[in-house]
Amino acid sequence: MQIFRCALLRFESDGTAVYEEDGLLAVAADADGVRRVKAAGGWSALSAGYAGLPVNHLPGRIIAPGFIDLHIHYPQTDVIGSPADGLLPWLENYTFPHESRFCDGDYAAQVASFFMDELLRNGVSTAFTFCTSHPGSVDALMSEAQARGMRMVAGKVLQDRHSPDGVRDQTEQSLIDTEALIRRWHGRGRLGYAITPRFAPTSSDAQLRGAGELADRYRDVWIQSHVAENHDEIRWVRELHPAARSYLSVYDDFGLMRERSVYAHCIHFDGEDRALMRDRGAAAAVCPTSNLFLSSGYFDFAKADAAGFGYGLASDVGGGTSFSPFRTMLEAYYVGREGHSKQGQSLSPGTLWWLHTAGAARAAGLEGVVGNLQPGCEADFVILHPQATPLIARRTAQARSLDELLFAMIVLGDDRLIERTVIA
Ligand code: GUN
Ligand code: ZN
Repeated sequence: MQIFRCALLRFESDGTAVYEEDGLLAVAADADGVRRVKAAGGWSALSAGYAGLPVNHLPGRIIAPGFIDLHIHYPQTDVIGSPADGLLPWLENYTFPHESRFCDGDYAAQVASFFMDELLRNGVSTAFTFCTSHPGSVDALMSEAQARGMRMVAGKVLQDRHSPDGVRDQTEQSLIDTEALIRRWHGRGRLGYAITPRFAPTSSDAQLRGAGELADRYRDVWIQSHVAENHDEIRWVRELHPAARSYLSVYDDFGLMRERSVYAHCIHFDGEDRALMRDRGAAAAVCPTSNLFLSSGYFDFAKADAAGFGYGLASDVGGGTSFSPFRTMLEAYYVGREGHSKQGQSLSPGTLWWLHTAGAARAAGLEGVVGNLQPGCEADFVILHPQATPLIARRTAQARSLDELLFAMIVLGDDRLIERTVIA
């Protein structure tokens, strides 16, 4: 049993942030070797139950749930900051040429190791990760995650058409490889597999059909893809699938929408698309830094809430510009105020934080597993150091409420605020 004493942030099941200035967190390993939260709350209420045990006293620090990034591409670590006139030229000129390098397993392993370091430096303990079309790119990432004991969800990208040599895969082989990777990695330790069609334009009907069949056979495996990000992309999908009701419905027609499916962007939706997300139990990965960088548009938080589908925050590195959850939360705040329903609705600091932790976990089918510090949750957490910079120290010291404290960290925070990321 390990006992921590410091300030503690966690979330109620309705998403309300709970904060103890003088908190207690008790964690212990279960028979599977994973440490889980045994108790969380106020020191004065709980400490008598742990009398005599050594205490990790962390004055001035805040323990909070590890962040969950619902959508990121590890092979695009070196693509961040590549300027382009929108999504399609960005893919063609920077992303596809770079991803072709991941046919080399040693190169993939070296990038995977850097990528994991960067996630942890930024407080991200779980990420839904795209690899490349090369099966070895999955082995590289999963091996690295396993060595670090991290809960990661990842998959081999499927892209058998409209893709250049070096990243294009073969329909039948890609499905054989996907099934082999599911069997090799899904459920091994804390690892999960995601069937990962890149996006509708780069998969043949046969590949999408095969992916849907695998999704039906392996029900607890995840699905991840991109949808409704950019107007040129949407026009292209309409040409390729003239009979489909919408871009999103292409995925539904191939059996790729269900619980545990996570679609990045979901910007240019209509009411029927939003209802379909809700009815299928699919989740959106909202990627504000990417959507602003590539001028893709604004996710509509108000309409998503009105329709009632789940979503969480994501970096979408390398379309996104930062590994830091603080950058993502801040830009989500901007997007929430500017969104196309023009409601000027502000996302509260607690909601922004929830959407990158417990809310993301709920949307993706990991509620009660990660993203929170309630009893039973796996003990992935960050130790925040609000004195990390003179300005954060000064500003957080003047916070008069939890909202003010969280917002000061969202606006001013970066990797320096993360003193340590602790993995269960
Ligand atoms: N759509 C298809 N591939 C990608 C990608 O790598 N990044 C983003 N942002 N959108 C995509
Ligand atoms: Zn993406």
